[in-house]
Amino acid sequence: MGFNRFILPMLLHLVIALMLSSASTLTPPTFPIAMPGCKDHCGNVSIPFPFGITEDCYLNKYFFINCTNSSTSVPQPVLQNAINVTDISLEGQVHLMQDIASDCYDKNGSLLGNISPWMRLSKRFTFSSTANKFIVVGCDALALVKGFGQNRSYATGCIPSCDYKEDVIDGSCSGIGCCRTDIPPGAWNINVSLTSLNNHTKVWDFNPCSYAFVVEEKAFNFSASNLTNLSDDLSLPVVVDWTIEEGSCEVAQRNTTSYACSGKNSHCYEPFKGLGYRCSCDQGYEGNPYLPDGCQDIDECQKEETNNCKFGELCINVEGGYNCSCPKGYLQKDDGKGSEGCIPQPKKSYQALVAGAFAGAGVLFLVIATYTLYKVVKRRRNKKRQEKFFKRNGGLLLQHQLSADEGGVEKTMLFSAKELNKASDGFNENRILGQGGQGTVYKGMLTDGRIVAIKKSKKVDENQLGQFINEVVLLSQINHRNVVKLLGCCLETEVPLLVYEFIPNGTLFTLIHNGNNEELPLTWNLRLRIAIEVAGALAYLHSAVSIPIYHRDIKSSNILLDEKYIAKVSDFGTSRSVTIDKTHLTTVVKGTFGYLDPEYFQSSQFTEKSDVYSFGVVLAELLTRQKPISSAATDEDCNLSLATRFLISMEQDSLRNILDPELINQGNEQEITAVAKLAQRCLNLNGKKRPTMKEVAIGLESMKLSSVQSTTPENFQSPSHNEGESVVFSDNNYTWTTEGDSSRSVSDVDPLMNKH
Ligand SMILES: *[C@@H]1O[C@H](CO)[C@@H](O)[C@H](O)[C@H]1NC(C)=O
Ligand SMILES: *[C@@H]1O[C@H](CO)[C@@H](O)[C@H](O)[C@H]1NC(C)=O
Ligand SMILES: *[C@@H]1O[C@H](CO)[C@@H](O)[C@H](O)[C@H]1NC(C)=O
Ligand SMILES: *[C@@H]1O[C@H](CO)[C@@H](O)[C@H](O)[C@H]1NC(C)=O
Ligand SMILES: *[C@@H]1O[C@H](CO)[C@@H](O)[C@H](O)[C@H]1NC(C)=O
Ligand SMILES: *[C@@H]1O[C@H](CO)[C@@H](O)[C@H](O)[C@H]1NC(C)=O
Ligand SMILES: *[C@@H]1O[C@H](CO)[C@@H](O)[C@H](O)[C@H]1NC(C)=O
Ligand SMILES: *[C@@H]1O[C@H](CO)[C@@H](O)[C@H](O)[C@H]1NC(C)=O
Ligand SMILES: *[C@@H]1O[C@H](CO)[C@@H](O)[C@H](O)[C@H]1NC(C)=O
Ligand SMILES: *[C@@H]1O[C@H](CO)[C@@H](O)[C@H](O)[C@H]1NC(C)=O
Ligand SMILES: *[C@@H]1O[C@H](CO)[C@@H](O)[C@H](O)[C@H]1NC(C)=O
Ligand SMILES: *[C@@H]1O[C@H](CO)[C@@H](O)[C@H](O)[C@H]1NC(C)=O
Repeated sequence: MGFNRFILPMLLHLVIALMLSSASTLTPPTFPIAMPGCKDHCGNVSIPFPFGITEDCYLNKYFFINCTNSSTSVPQPVLQNAINVTDISLEGQVHLMQDIASDCYDKNGSLLGNISPWMRLSKRFTFSSTANKFIVVGCDALALVKGFGQNRSYATGCIPSCDYKEDVIDGSCSGIGCCRTDIPPGAWNINVSLTSLNNHTKVWDFNPCSYAFVVEEKAFNFSASNLTNLSDDLSLPVVVDWTIEEGSCEVAQRNTTSYACSGKNSHCYEPFKGLGYRCSCDQGYEGNPYLPDGCQDIDECQKEETNNCKFGELCINVEGGYNCSCPKGYLQKDDGKGSEGCIPQPKKSYQALVAGAFAGAGVLFLVIATYTLYKVVKRRRNKKRQEKFFKRNGGLLLQHQLSADEGGVEKTMLFSAKELNKASDGFNENRILGQGGQGTVYKGMLTDGRIVAIKKSKKVDENQLGQFINEVVLLSQINHRNVVKLLGCCLETEVPLLVYEFIPNGTLFTLIHNGNNEELPLTWNLRLRIAIEVAGALAYLHSAVSIPIYHRDIKSSNILLDEKYIAKVSDFGTSRSVTIDKTHLTTVVKGTFGYLDPEYFQSSQFTEKSDVYSFGVVLAELLTRQKPISSAATDEDCNLSLATRFLISMEQDSLRNILDPELINQGNEQEITAVAKLAQRCLNLNGKKRPTMKEVAIGLESMKLSSVQSTTPENFQSPSHNEGESVVFSDNNYTWTTEGDSSRSVSDVDPLMNKH
């Protein structure tokens, strides 16, 4: 199967598409908005047709914009000779500035000034009833807004009041110092009148004036200071909807000379019933629909979000739309509900090609052709072999998975056998990084210079293939800081090869047990950090990914350390296929025996809590710096596993006896005790009573946080024995909810644990 040859062109297309889309964001498409030869802006306000600045540049007198720089050096667009315009949109809105009404008094209650402005627009312009509100600010005010909406007159208003400035709530305009109300749709003029009930005599100290205005709702946010500080020459924005004419589309279309939407690919619509019409570009076009050639084709292929071509498809722009097609040699896969992407075309056989070559070429080429045929057949035989392995190793299953899961395609790389052979120097013995129950790990360098770890798996059981492939697909999608990244795999070889990122600093096991590292003392903080990182990764695998992944083989030698000694959980995958039965006990499971959940051991039932148990052993390792099985402990319990000895010590309140001596008197007693108690809970023989990985991760994380806060060291104390408690960290404010009783006695310890 030419699987690489399938994926690589797809990736190329993706890269090209990305490059195109990033290029297009640099140069946004521009289209003319004004008539040819006309100015399309005034100051920094753009003026699209039907609006215009000079004769013949606007549709009719209602859309004339007087662009003068009367008082400022920046020209100011003015509509109908009085109203300042700040924005005009082709979607049918203009933003205008308007004066506000005010009503001011002196201390004795005499009127100082009353401004009651009004605004009258032509019927093509109506105050937006959705974007605007009528707002009255004041503690002794009575305001009305009146005018004409469509053919009817309207009047509305409100009466805000307040007794003390302290009663006013910033941001709330609901009657105390500020009130607001809707205006009716279709209003084309407004006349605000404002008065007071008590001439502001009772509130003059903090509110000498009242104010009232129709305003763009989001442009005004009431605050108590507005009661004193709203200046009376202020102007505020108001949103106005515009239409071409008062008539309907049907009526407008009858007069072809006056119809505004007669341009190509433009159509008429009525934004509000009976309030005139507007134009809009047809689907697939953009631009100014009021200009004869204003609507231009959108190149949907320029941007990914404007087309929905599937992965691998080529986007081809056409007038008013786009087509998705597959590159040469690929077919569109269609499930009836639309295209699903491209799949390779069934290949013509080599013989057909060769036969064609024979027919076309003369005798002269006979020799060359024969030679080619020989080569092809040889290569094919080789290929056949690889294909056989590919199939047997689950390649077809994987291919199926990948085509079902679009996201996976880009992330899982299928490496060729040749590539990995070269990368690992022919699986040279010098390149071996480690050997384990599941296979041998080689160091390799890919042609692009990346250093990788290549794991040569043990032969995969045919029955487990589905799981193996599932896991490859799942793992390749995991992108967690503390999980070793699976870069890809190779299935063309006799045994499957997995390719991981290379992690340089060895395993946690080496760090803990192989003497002291001069550069890096194994401080409590480092241990705690590593524990937090590992717990976080496991919690993520257990709960954050779509299908929970159980590691099944947590141990310190499966935790790698990168150049900054950041922990990376490794080696999942094949551990899933380990079956627990008596015959395998001494061979396959032996290496990880000290970490094995006794409950799982008995029932063969792996649960998420089995991972928690193994993690508990790692915590115990970090605390005691002792190996999980066989240790330098005293004779009588040298046969006991670390987990058992740890539990016994905890039961006997003698954590100090088993603790790494380096940790004693370092001043982290509280934290150490807390971690030890957490480890104890993880090691509970009853899986149900163990915390979940998530709880463990949160618990450890909170210790880190609290350790930043509490800096006072105390003398080391053995953990107090709290029988039957449900709160573990009782003296540290940590609360844990557990199901019932967490006490245990030594006799609970599984007899198996004592035997081995
Ligand atoms: C125009 O300029 C004014 C003042 O410089 C600014 O407040 C306003 O936001 C600008 N408007 C646009 C649409 O850029
Ligand atoms: C534009 O406004 C200026 C200043 O207000 C005024 O002098 C001029 O007559 C106006 N132009 C037109 C065409 O109305
Ligand atoms: C407006 O400004 C331009 C450029 O600053 C200047 O040439 C022109 O005379 C001004 N017009 C008025 C009416 O002030
Ligand atoms: C309109 O703009 C001019 C110039 O910036 C300014 O003098 C005038 O007060 C404004 N009018 C309104 C109603 O905002
Ligand atoms: C307010 O009334 C008092 C007493 O009647 C008077 O002395 C004072 O001048 C008045 N103040 C104003 C601003 O009219
Ligand atoms: C309120 O002001 C008006 C106008 O100045 C005046 O006629 C009226 O007497 C005043 N009322 C009170 C209660 O001060
Ligand atoms: C407004 O009145 C005119 C003439 O009286 C009538 O033709 C039109 O249909 C009315 N419009 C609405 C929206 O009622
Ligand atoms: C309005 O102002 C209040 C207080 O000043 C603030 O909490 C709120 O977020 C503001 N709302 C908006 C929409 O700006
Ligand atoms: C606005 O309303 C007031 C009070 O009803 C009235 O006296 C005034 O003439 C109106 N102004 C306009 C322009 O309609
Ligand atoms: C209202 O008060 C707030 C807070 O002081 C201020 O940011 C805002 O500009 C004021 N609004 C007006 C229209 O002056
Ligand atoms: C608000 O009003 C007070 C009193 O009227 C004044 O002292 C202060 O300077 C004003 N603040 C602003 C930002 O206008
Ligand atoms: C069509 O519209 C044009 C321009 O507004 C106008 O001059 C003409 O009289 C209209 N024709 C009819 C039949 O209404």
